Amino acid sequence: MKSQFLAYATAASLAVPFAVATAIAKRSLDTTALASQYFGNHAPWYQDRIPFFTCSDKSIQGVHYYRWKVFRAHQRDLGERGYVSTEFLDDVGWQLEPWATLNDATGFHIGEGRWLRDRRFADDYIRHMYNGGNDRHFTDYMADSWDDSFDTDKGLYWREPLADATEYTISSIDASCGVDGFTGGYAFRPSINSYMWANAIAMNKIAALTGENGVASDFQKRADTLKERFQADIWNTTLEHFIDRHQRDTDCVKYWEPIRGRELVGLVPWMFNMPDDNSTYSAAWKHLLDTDKLRGSNGMRTNEPSYEYYMRQYRYDQPTGLRECQWNGPVWPYQITQVLLGMANLLDTYDQEIITKANFIDELRRYTNIHYLNGEFNIQEDYEPDKTGPIVGLPRSHHYFHSGYNDIIISGLVGIRPRADNVIEVNPMIPEGSDITSFRIQDVPYHGHSVAVQWEASGSGLQVEVDGTVLASASQLGRLTADIPAASAPAIERRIAKSIQLVRGDFPKGSASSGNDTERIHDAIDGGVWFFPELPNGWDSDGTETDSEQWYAIEFASPTEFTGAELAFFANGDDFALPKDYSIQQFDGSNWVDVWDRPQLVENGLTAVEGDSVTTGKIRVAFTQLAGKKTRLVEFKLF
Ligand SMILES: *[C@@H]1O[C@H](CO)[C@@H](O)[C@H](O)[C@H]1NC(C)=O
Ligand SMILES: *[C@@H]1O[C@H](CO)[C@@H](O)[C@H](O)[C@H]1NC(C)=O
Ligand SMILES: *[C@@H]1O[C@H](CO)[C@@H](O)[C@H](O)[C@H]1NC(C)=O
Repeated sequence: MKSQFLAYATAASLAVPFAVATAIAKRSLDTTALASQYFGNHAPWYQDRIPFFTCSDKSIQGVHYYRWKVFRAHQRDLGERGYVSTEFLDDVGWQLEPWATLNDATGFHIGEGRWLRDRRFADDYIRHMYNGGNDRHFTDYMADSWDDSFDTDKGLYWREPLADATEYTISSIDASCGVDGFTGGYAFRPSINSYMWANAIAMNKIAALTGENGVASDFQKRADTLKERFQADIWNTTLEHFIDRHQRDTDCVKYWEPIRGRELVGLVPWMFNMPDDNSTYSAAWKHLLDTDKLRGSNGMRTNEPSYEYYMRQYRYDQPTGLRECQWNGPVWPYQITQVLLGMANLLDTYDQEIITKANFIDELRRYTNIHYLNGEFNIQEDYEPDKTGPIVGLPRSHHYFHSGYNDIIISGLVGIRPRADNVIEVNPMIPEGSDITSFRIQDVPYHGHSVAVQWEASGSGLQVEVDGTVLASASQLGRLTADIPAASAPAIERRIAKSIQLVRGDFPKGSASSGNDTERIHDAIDGGVWFFPELPNGWDSDGTETDSEQWYAIEFASPTEFTGAELAFFANGDDFALPKDYSIQQFDGSNWVDVWDRPQLVENGLTAVEGDSVTTGKIRVAFTQLAGKKTRLVEFKLF
């Protein structure tokens, strides 16, 4: 059944024009208290940006705020080019320089960022990616072209699993005759073909918006043809699943042969609403509920235990001997995100009875639990399917941004179903009688409005508020819609940091009074701000027993005008503390002279310094270090 819910608000509530709707929201969250509880001194960064959420399930509520912290930590300020999202907090050898980006998780980064009231982060990042920032190192779904991996004979796209960000799949292990599988295993896959279908649909819609009807119909045709080939050839009637077909002969596999098992990637096409609403295809979802197949006790397995090389470990990190990333069974937040978004689509628009909202909540809770590591929030790369704990666990793994969560909460659990017209549609993925008895989300930006959705099982029921006015409500959970007036999204403010060092060794250059590690000196002007103790970020002064004078200076290629600064200092109540006092100084050619005010510094947050404009080639922050402590300058930004 499409929807068991009958209380459509549309027709009824439309009789009441927006302007005269009078039911005013009764309850608003104490966002200052919530921001302070979850973000401490860094709360002001979040206060006017994130949607605030409370839920009777406190684990889900906690992870919601943690994931905004992950999002914030991964915002790298590139200066003139604005902000991008990184995948690893700290640098890895395979990122795209000088941006420190990787495009495989960009879809998740934008999916999360679209729910921020401050649209700068998603907007800057999208511009960056379309403006030379995307090297197409991995497959993605950003209305981008991949025709270099199109087989014109079969009408399908192929990809090496490593370039799909999924090394050691069935195709790559089997192509190597079971010997390895890091590289190789080129295959026609459900991933790239559904991404390309989504890309074609996006191109169709973009062209329609700009009135290019020929382009629009061309892309619609491409999408239709691709889907037809995909459903005919990638659907395997024996396994009742979308599975890869090999694209290259090796000693052990042949071109066009189907792989010999099911993988979780076979459910990814629903993330884009691609498969037809047909019980034949929907049957694939039963494998996700089967503990012998894709359902591990700790989360969704990426392939099934019946596969000969399921969970065989091939690759280890050289220096530590720790297990490296593989996709032959481990649970990956990356693909859980795709499948949960697909599951919400399945529940929202498909006529099927295999997956229920209870299944959605169950999988969401398993995914939520994965975020806790030894009682602390820390999302990592991949997880054991049948026991708790992460697999890789390297220093680079902490707070890994390779998945989404808040997009699943907002568009799935709460069920704000984004649409292009001026209608707000809400369909919470919570079954009747669920122990999720209440939630409220507010300050959600939507078509230039601020939306709140509230559920109170024993109380006001389900309510949708737009700009503080209840526009639709029902006593039970289900789909609600309401018309909203056309409005423009608020303008984006862009303050440009002038102090970011993109290329190591180039201007602006950092130098310091002690602590001469060049990488750490770069950290303080690299545009990244986070305070997680597990992964030190910033420049550390050397420890000292006496009060010592320390400084961190930035030198520019030529005299530059500045109107303010932002300081971020780390402290941990142990060996790192805030300095006793400080001043910002410019070099006037012979001396360092104080400029600007000295507001009280905050630890693990931002201190904004403003003042009259100064033009100089060198600025520093000078301070007296607290006796017995070190100082960590996380970031020193100049505007
Ligand atoms: C489905 O895949 C399996 C495993 O590779 C294969 O044995 C079977 O022949 C395929 N079914 C069809 C109808 O092609
Ligand atoms: C589902 O799709 C398959 C393959 O295209 C087709 O054979 C079948 O008739 C469809 N089933 C329904 C119920 O439409
Ligand atoms: C950094 O400082 C340490 C300790 O003072 C010293 O041994 C080392 O040579 C210095 N390295 C550089 C690159 O200056």
